[in-house]
Amino acid sequence: MKVKKAVLPVAGFGTRFLPATKSSSKEMLPLVDKPLIHYAVKDAIDAGIEQIIFITGRGKRAIEDYFDISFELEYHLKFHGKEDLIQDMRQISDMADFVYVRQKEPKGLGHAVLRAKDVVGGEPFAVILADDVVENKISGTKQLVDVFDRYHCSVLGLEEVPKEDVSKYGIVSGKEIENGLFKLDNFVEKPKPENAPSNTAIIGRYIFTPKIFEELEKTSIGKGNEIQLTDAILSLSKKEVIYGKILEGKRFDCGSKFGFLEATVEFALKDKEIGKEFKEYLKGVVEC
Ligand code: G1P
Repeated sequence: MKVKKAVLPVAGFGTRFLPATKSSSKEMLPLVDKPLIHYAVKDAIDAGIEQIIFITGRGKRAIEDYFDISFELEYHLKFHGKEDLIQDMRQISDMADFVYVRQKEPKGLGHAVLRAKDVVGGEPFAVILADDVVENKISGTKQLVDVFDRYHCSVLGLEEVPKEDVSKYGIVSGKEIENGLFKLDNFVEKPKPENAPSNTAIIGRYIFTPKIFEELEKTSIGKGNEIQLTDAILSLSKKEVIYGKILEGKRFDCGSKFGFLEATVEFALKDKEIGKEFKEYLKGVVEC
């Protein structure tokens, strides 16, 4: 069975970006001229995903509007002879079939993913966290879908992180079966460095078999008083093989201010329109 659906949890408060996120969604923060959520949806589409299931919450209307058709904007653009921009805007709403499910209470990532159970049904599906932007020729989700197509098992996107950072991530351990591909056997959500099974972190790309929903239903409150996806993965690993793949490319942690600024600078430097000028500007600033 092919992976055709992706779940994108977007109900979080974005507290690390307050006050910017007090009245708008952190997923709408732009890297140059596209919001973070655009890159996450593109990551899915490049992996052959056809349906995007957003798990939303209060104050997330901007995401719905972004992926919808805006008649007023199109009318305005047409009036000013900007037909090419109309096409660009239409391409956004044509990217996929978009479905919205509300997470009524912020009870954690595991709780958010479980909200998608009825829409996903009995199919394998991807989970994409928009905070993690993966820059690579082959999208992060596609790299995992390729492993899923070989083994038909759940697959997690991984990255080696510095030992002092393990408490920010779900940490795994397992056996490397080929370069960068692991059969995983342990999963711990945000351990202290002294208790971490390794320094290999789960980053925001996952493929699951639908069995994960049964485990999520049984998962009780964990780290940070939330229902943790990592705890459900640990339970699933007792029943099915779980693979992990070190993702190729560069990952930006856009959930942190520093990571977001790194991504902004690097994306701006590569931008066709402003890249050259921005580079010159940066040189001047750094020399001062
Ligand atoms: C979540 C997951 C964690 C994972 C991380 C990747 O944490 O709970 O296991 O390693 O995403 O970015 P969060 O960043 O939402 O605290």
